[in-house]
Amino acid sequence: MTDVDLTTPEPISEAELVFEGALRPKSLEEFVGQSKVRGQLQLLLQAASIQGRTPDHILLAGPPGLGKTTLAMIVAHESNKPLRMSSGPAIQHAGDLAAVLSSLVPGEVLFIDEIHRMARSAEEMLYLAMEDFRIDIMVGKGAGATSVPLDLAPFTLVGATTRSGMLPNPLRDRFGFTAHLEFYDESELEQVLHRAARMLDFDIDRNGLAEIAGRCRGTPRIANRLLRRVRDYVLVHGTDANLAAVQSALTLYDVDELGLDRLDRAVMEIMLTRFGGGPVGLNTLAVSVGEEADTIESVVEPFLVRIGLITRTPRGRVATPQAFAHFGVPNPQGSFLPGVL
Ligand SMILES: Nc1ncnc2c1ncn2[C@@H]1O[C@H](COP(=O)(O)OP(=O)(O)OP(=O)(O)O)[C@@H](O)[C@H]1O
Ligand SMILES: [Mg+2]
Repeated sequence: MTDVDLTTPEPISEAELVFEGALRPKSLEEFVGQSKVRGQLQLLLQAASIQGRTPDHILLAGPPGLGKTTLAMIVAHESNKPLRMSSGPAIQHAGDLAAVLSSLVPGEVLFIDEIHRMARSAEEMLYLAMEDFRIDIMVGKGAGATSVPLDLAPFTLVGATTRSGMLPNPLRDRFGFTAHLEFYDESELEQVLHRAARMLDFDIDRNGLAEIAGRCRGTPRIANRLLRRVRDYVLVHGTDANLAAVQSALTLYDVDELGLDRLDRAVMEIMLTRFGGGPVGLNTLAVSVGEEADTIESVVEPFLVRIGLITRTPRGRVATPQAFAHFGVPNPQGSFLPGVL
């Protein structure tokens, strides 16, 4: 096992999924951080409940592991309605979507994960469904085909995307509210970890928790995974769960002090060593590390920008002096930046 398993965006196994499910906050009150989004959602849900109508459609945008699926579940839970889960890749034809929409019960919350990956034809059907709770179904083929309107039960769509820029404007405009989830700060991550440790009945001290919080890439999912690895470590070594144990466990799993994962490191190393710190274009960078440009832009880059290792410029991505320092690579411009290295 390497760090790859700890930090990949996708859940990796059935056990991980069960683990995530168990730790998911069930209500807005239990949901840590994202205070602005939480307040906005609360208002939206309460207003709808006072008026006795279904809440507006909600779009949740942000990098993996920050709580989009969790919030979708919370929306259903808080509005006391059933939740139907689907995803963009599962909706490859308008018919797939029609089947889901036509079977919704009144007030149901429909969650479409990775909504940017839905088929075009389904997207168009969704416009009408979101606006008028109605779809047109094509019956028959060729010249004899006719479209039959079908009324739907009112529902709330919750869409999640790591790529809000890839959503066509007409779709984006039909959401009454868009929540942009941000990376969590360390004190919020400590709360996430504290809660998870309590639920796992794992007795770990504050310094240990703080260390994990600083090394989990601002992401609750990764925080919880690292906590589990530390728990394994403590169990096997029979030590106390304290700062030293956390440091040893995370070193063993190759998680660096900034919490960078394999792909983050690959991107940084290529920028620093092959391109002298840049500027490098997104596509060039993606080809060099053998990843999709999309993944670099939506998963890797936001965190690297947030912690100040790269900046975006009109000519491409540029590594900062801090990046050279962190990776111990001599900065070709070092002599022009006195006091930096
Ligand atoms: N605000 C939070 N408070 C406590 N735990 C959280 C919070 N947000 C996320 N988590 C934890 O992180 C895990 C991952 O969150 P979630 O599955 O909602 O992320 P996501 O944004 O849907 O990710 P993806 O884009 O990969 O689908 C959850 O199982 C939950 O335990
Ligand atoms: Mg999710």
